[in-house]
Amino acid sequence: MFAAAVVVLAAAGASLAQTTAPQWGQCGGIGWTGPTACPSGWVCTVSNQYYSQCLQGAATSTIPPVTSTPPPTSTVGTPTSGSSSATVTVTGAGPGSTLKPNYLWIRAVEAPHFHEYLQSNPLYTASGSVLGSYTTAGQFNVVNGQLVQLLGDGSLLYGVVETRTDPTVMKLRLSFQKTPAPASAGTFAWSGDALQWTIANVTRPNNSAWLACPDGTGAVPLFVNLGPYGYMTPAGCADETIHFYNAATASS
Ligand SMILES: *[C@@H]1O[C@H](CO)[C@@H](O)[C@H](O)[C@H]1NC(C)=O
Ligand SMILES: *[C@@H]1O[C@H](CO)[C@@H](O)[C@H](O)[C@H]1NC(C)=O
Repeated sequence: MFAAAVVVLAAAGASLAQTTAPQWGQCGGIGWTGPTACPSGWVCTVSNQYYSQCLQGAATSTIPPVTSTPPPTSTVGTPTSGSSSATVTVTGAGPGSTLKPNYLWIRAVEAPHFHEYLQSNPLYTASGSVLGSYTTAGQFNVVNGQLVQLLGDGSLLYGVVETRTDPTVMKLRLSFQKTPAPASAGTFAWSGDALQWTIANVTRPNNSAWLACPDGTGAVPLFVNLGPYGYMTPAGCADETIHFYNAATASS
């Protein structure tokens, strides 16, 4: 009987999630399964990791401009000669430096990339994944087996792991694209707080094994490690596991 009551409440929570929170109402926080949208002119504002509330269009709730953080050097092109006003920054707009309801930071926890955070490179664009500074950390979650990254306009990017071309390939690059990855491209899941990726007919020694392989430009591309965690590490790479972190702000 108790179990039946829980199911009914869970179903009610799921349908509420489609609706809009009232003015001054809760719109997020850990464990919150209710609405996450606010009425027009109201902004879902994080109070702390357990509580976000719809507030009237307050200035403090506007999304900080991405230009407040310097773009990674790899996103800066060389201005063509004779052009004094070339635009060299090609970063997209991010969701800000405060965690949005239902999203998480993802970071590595082993040296030499301890507390480097998952992000796109260039930032907030459909591009390759890297580990980078907490100041430019992306916001993510796993939804229906997809790794989703939140952008500043509320749209999503989807994680996609490259196809293994032959059985000698032991690392697969993670990138982000604008459309959901096909089911044949594998499945993301949380194991505790660790991000895992699995795919039919590739058996991995450790589904939480990732590789960080600096590319020589200062960027640290991230790969799925199809081999064992912690030994037989490919040259130029470091073994990492990556974990969600749900404090309101990312930190080093
Ligand atoms: C791998 O799995 C897919 C279906 O998920 C199947 O179509 C394909 O034939 C399999 N490949 C091998 C080598 O077993
Ligand atoms: C994978 O490796 C991590 C890091 O060493 C470890 O915590 C975890 O238990 C391993 N999982 C399996 C299934 O071996």
